[in-house]
Amino acid sequence: MHTYEPKTFTIPTLEGISQKSIDEHIGLYNGYVKNFNAITAAVQDLMSDSAKNAHAISELTRRLSFEFDGMRLHEIYFTQLETAATSSNAESPLAQAISKQFGSTDTLLAQLKQVGLMRGPGWAILYYDESVQTFHIGFAGEQHQGHFATLPIVLALDVWEHAFLLDYGAQGKGGYIDSFFKNLNWTAVENRFAGL
Ligand SMILES: [Fe+2]
Repeated sequence: MHTYEPKTFTIPTLEGISQKSIDEHIGLYNGYVKNFNAITAAVQDLMSDSAKNAHAISELTRRLSFEFDGMRLHEIYFTQLETAATSSNAESPLAQAISKQFGSTDTLLAQLKQVGLMRGPGWAILYYDESVQTFHIGFAGEQHQGHFATLPIVLALDVWEHAFLLDYGAQGKGGYIDSFFKNLNWTAVENRFAGL
């Protein structure tokens, strides 16, 4: 069985998102990695007597995607903030595809923000359906509910309270989202899109 290792991230000083908030957030990410490994191992142990342990296997298996998606989405999230904020490159395939569908990057970000402002913990996510060359903006409840099966993620915006409570308070989600966009390393996002 594979044991996942937490990744490390090179996060610069951000505008509007404190180092303390990032440090605590990375601590939560590490918890997802640890829990996914632990629950995977526990399920395998219980499988040794699967009839007796059927209920426990069922409940723990339901938690696997919660932990796994928490791990992977945070890896995308922090990668987007690594190194330094960079502007969108208008010549990049990503910018051109966004422009074709949304008219401008600003329009896309406004729509992503609108989805991010939805109530409840979750993620506003930009997916891309290569088969019809179309983006879709979705809201993944918590982190494992409502994904667009098979579609790769281009950009992932964490809108759980833990992402902004420290810096913005309970009603400060909009300000946090604006800061997240300001700190985006567009090159990282463009590279991910190019690699799909
Ligand atoms: Fe988070």
